[in-house]
Amino acid sequence: MTNDAQPRTQWLGRWGFVLAATGSAVGLGNVWKFPYMTGEYGGGAFVLVYLACILALGVPVMMTEIALGRRGRGSPIDAIRRVAAESGGASLWSLLGWMAMLCGFMILCFYVVVAGWSFSYLWKMLSGGLAGSSVDDMAAIFGANNESPLNLGFWSTLVTLATMVIVGKGVQAGIEKSVSWMMPGMVVMLLIMIAYGAFSGGFGDALHFLFAFNAGSLSSEGMLAAMGHAFFTLSLASGAILTYGSYLPRNASIGRTTLTVAVADTLVALMAGLAIFPVIFANGMEPGSGPGLIFMSLPLAFQAMPLGTLFGVLFFIMLSMAALTSSISMVEATVSWLTDNKGISRRAAAWGTGIVLWIISTLAMLSFNVGAEWTLAGKHFFGWLDYLTSRWMMPLGGLGMVLLAGFVLKSETLREELGLSPAMHALWLFMVRYVSPLGIVVIFVDALGIATLDFGEQWPWLLLVLAVIAVIGELASPRLKRVLSA
Ligand code: PHE
Repeated sequence: MTNDAQPRTQWLGRWGFVLAATGSAVGLGNVWKFPYMTGEYGGGAFVLVYLACILALGVPVMMTEIALGRRGRGSPIDAIRRVAAESGGASLWSLLGWMAMLCGFMILCFYVVVAGWSFSYLWKMLSGGLAGSSVDDMAAIFGANNESPLNLGFWSTLVTLATMVIVGKGVQAGIEKSVSWMMPGMVVMLLIMIAYGAFSGGFGDALHFLFAFNAGSLSSEGMLAAMGHAFFTLSLASGAILTYGSYLPRNASIGRTTLTVAVADTLVALMAGLAIFPVIFANGMEPGSGPGLIFMSLPLAFQAMPLGTLFGVLFFIMLSMAALTSSISMVEATVSWLTDNKGISRRAAAWGTGIVLWIISTLAMLSFNVGAEWTLAGKHFFGWLDYLTSRWMMPLGGLGMVLLAGFVLKSETLREELGLSPAMHALWLFMVRYVSPLGIVVIFVDALGIATLDFGEQWPWLLLVLAVIAVIGELASPRLKRVLSA
């Protein structure tokens, strides 16, 4: 069903897609963002909502995106336009592709700054810049690292360059090759860190903090954050997974690959939590200390370990790699759209995108020094990029994808692409038609203050409402389908 003149590139190896998609999913989101958000939003309840969102929203949306990509064989914009057209859907649906592509790019603009932190800490480890520092020194070192725009800019520029070099090389020689050895290494390093955490004296506190599910302690804001993070950590609604899916060979199973990626991603996030919080608690640090959390806590752990410098170096190498395997996936949508539609080479597309990225990410980097005062409604530019993408664009994009798949596309199309057993297909359809959209809407309604929901007490009612809506929806679905495809 592709109308490209040339057949689309495909992953070379059997594991190409799984590794690349896991590489995209596993990144700073797992090791940097998840722990500090869990710390800010108070632990267990946040983790619970996050896990529920991965299952109820993340998995169905990821399957949908991969199916859309493989069916449409193109960048998000082209793929969604084609697949919608095939079912007689409006061409306006391609706006969803535009939003996804923009979202991936906006994320990258702040992501390179954080990846830059990782690279700079790698350098600090190598050069002994962290040796002998106390708990208090760590906060000061993190602050000092941010103070100079030249220093911070150097590191984020380096990340931008590395990303563009890999993407410029292509899907197989660049992306696939780089992920196939970086992913296993990351897991080994995390295991070592957890083993250390288990003996540091804070492991029990950490377990309690992460897994004591005290429902009701989570704010609406925290719930929106948990949902947004579920999308972020699985790289959804940002063009990454959809574009990678467009390179997926016909015979690969979308259900199985999605589960592999989601499970791996979740495990890494929980492992990162189990590696980081024991150190925080054992040293009396604040779990809610924000984006600097891992950069202040982990170096401390490395110092106390035998061969700590060696492990520290390895850890920051792996973190930087994990960041790179994610950052490359964020621009792949844009690069593939440019090469498909603008008649330019992949290399030119990569460098052109890189220049724009460099300019905007430099502005984001300045949020930590000279631009710290340039705020709007209390958030600086870096904060806005993060907030808009994770809290709004990704959930809304995900909502669009599931509505498209659930109500607009012909059911044979998805049956063919997903290749699930009848029972599993029915389950998937139920999720994308009702559970995922309603979950997203409920959390938005709550966050916007339209209605306050107390999930601790109201969940049986919510289930009931869901069931009623599902029955009505099933009865009305032919009409709904007509409305949405108009
Ligand atoms: N999933 C990545 C992480 O957790 C971030 C990401 C978001 C990657 C969107 C691609 C697209 O770090």
